[in-house]
Amino acid sequence: MSRTDILFRPVDLGKLKLRNRIAMAPMTRTFSPGNVPNSKVVDYYRRRAEGGVGLIITEGTFVDHPAASGYPNVPAFYGKDALAGWKRVVDAVHAAGGKIAPQLWHVGAIRRPGVMPGGDTPGHSPSGMARPGKVTGHAMTQEDIDDVIAAFAKAAADAKRIGFDAIEIHGAHGYLIDQFFWDGTNQREDAYGGDLAARSKFALEIIRACRAAVGPDFPIILRYSQWKQQDYSARLCETPQALAEFLQPLAEAGVDIFHCSTRRFWEPEFEGSDLNLAGWTRKLTGKPSITVGSVGLNADFLPDDGTADFRAAETASIDTLLERVERNEFDLVAVGRALIANPDWANQVAAGQFDSLHAYEKDMLHQLV
Ligand code: FNR
Repeated sequence: MSRTDILFRPVDLGKLKLRNRIAMAPMTRTFSPGNVPNSKVVDYYRRRAEGGVGLIITEGTFVDHPAASGYPNVPAFYGKDALAGWKRVVDAVHAAGGKIAPQLWHVGAIRRPGVMPGGDTPGHSPSGMARPGKVTGHAMTQEDIDDVIAAFAKAAADAKRIGFDAIEIHGAHGYLIDQFFWDGTNQREDAYGGDLAARSKFALEIIRACRAAVGPDFPIILRYSQWKQQDYSARLCETPQALAEFLQPLAEAGVDIFHCSTRRFWEPEFEGSDLNLAGWTRKLTGKPSITVGSVGLNADFLPDDGTADFRAAETASIDTLLERVERNEFDLVAVGRALIANPDWANQVAAGQFDSLHAYEKDMLHQLV
């Protein structure tokens, strides 16, 4: 038995059964010309499934709303061609023994007019702000809110129909849903603004609409984060009690699995405990959770025997990860950049081939593999 075996045994998360605990983190690549995932995108995901990943969470793919897209050449999740492209991705991943969820995305006020599709449509957000204090976009009306909720529900239904194994709703990183969660960008005075419970109303309505669209047995993952791309030090919840009050209604609305986005998985979330955000989330909700953040970046996986270079000091060894998995702190481990650098990262780690893992470099994003 190798020390990493615990990562590579099948895992049963209730509605979602996976061959192992490794998930691919969602990573935008802007390689879908015309917003359609093409055969290179199919090959990219096929390679990660062949490389042993249990659950692939796709790059963010935007729902059918004119302000949903924020970057060029991101794949859409609506329209005949884009959905046909996604169906090919699904089939390729399934043929390689993997499972896959699309990450459903609306960028909110991060959008600038001109990004296609959407043309001149300005960024939409709760109060027209992408960052605190600066109105750059459109403050959403009730009609806008209803349209976006309907767009998420339609995407959820399409995901199930095409054969995806789950959906992930992108509620993290300062994009639209998180712009509602965050008091820095949500200054509404109607029912969608106020305390965190009120600021969660938009997310709750999206989750309930998605649940109604897919039925009771289809897994819904929610990705959320304390940090925002606009402010890495931002926090939605300062205490476990506040986190419990935030998460419980989301779970009741229909979230099956929480994907807790942190930048370094080994960092404790609150003082007085080693638990990270995924650890607290699992403990407080009883729902499965996914951890993420600098797993498998090359330095983490160097042996902890003094031969590691200086970078190991600011990362963490695989033993730290394995100990947390053994303690059932979380259920799945999402890997991002290491899977860009190493499509077969999971198989290599399962085989103990740490020496042949490549370090992540930014340029790798531009290699179509
Ligand atoms: C990301 N990340 C990200 N997150 C998300 O929820 N949706 C997305 O579309 C993207 N896009 C994206 C692109 C690129 C190039 C990177 C590097 C990251 C964040 C990602 O899912 C993950 O949380 C972080 O990369 C941290 O994990 P690693 O890379 O440290 O394993």
